[in-house]
Amino acid sequence: MEALFDDIVGRYDRVNTILSFGLDRAWRRTAARALGSPLGTLVLDLGCGTGALGLQLAATHRVVGVDVSHGMLTAAVSKATNPGRRMRLVRGTALRLPFRSGAFQGAVSAFLLRNLDDLPGAFDELARVVAPAGSVALLDITGPRHPVLRRAFDAYFGAAAPALGALTGSPNAYRYLVRSLAQLPAPEGVCAMLREAGFSDTRARGLTGGVVTLFTATRGPSRRT
Ligand SMILES: C[S@@+](CC[C@H](N)C(=O)[O-])C[C@H]1O[C@@H](n2cnc3c(N)ncnc32)[C@H](O)[C@@H]1O
Repeated sequence: MEALFDDIVGRYDRVNTILSFGLDRAWRRTAARALGSPLGTLVLDLGCGTGALGLQLAATHRVVGVDVSHGMLTAAVSKATNPGRRMRLVRGTALRLPFRSGAFQGAVSAFLLRNLDDLPGAFDELARVVAPAGSVALLDITGPRHPVLRRAFDAYFGAAAPALGALTGSPNAYRYLVRSLAQLPAPEGVCAMLREAGFSDTRARGLTGGVVTLFTATRGPSRRT
């Protein structure tokens, strides 16, 4: 996984923007706005990549970004030292976070969930590091439910991602992208996992016809141990 993201890092932001017709920025903005954590509090950007989501929040919150990929974090460093939008960067995995319990008042992630092979385990860790009453806003590609839109979505990703892979010289990475789209459970399944981990008020909001879904939840008073 680290090697895969290390391999595409130089082109990552640009290819994202091309693949999503520029919508990825608007989706992240929606996720940042949906986070209910009070201004100035400490929040986590899980799977921060090059820092695109965390840096939006850094204008209003103290942000720590965590990612497994050294390459992605290196790319985030130059942006994360910008005065007024500072973000601390830490290398680590969402499956075993290098932070104390209850350290954060909130957490966000964008396009990470489908890469995790143990989503319940990652949500347990998230519930551990987010303090009770803290909020989370997690964004990922889910694909539209409407059958016609779904066929168009599948055809688009089936053709566009491999073509970009060939053009950028990273065919494996973009083949993986298409495979990973099938890995995330349906939105109600993701909400059920969040509740099992100790979150309440779970909501799944489809954006752009359900191409991506924004999951929001509040950390309950107790969590699964
Ligand atoms: C598709 S990128 C998204 C990056 C960024 N959040 C964004 O909005 O552009 C997924 C990121 O998750 C990271 N990642 C994958 N598995 C991870 C894990 N187990 N723990 C932490 N980060 C992980 C990858 O290295 C990569 O940077």
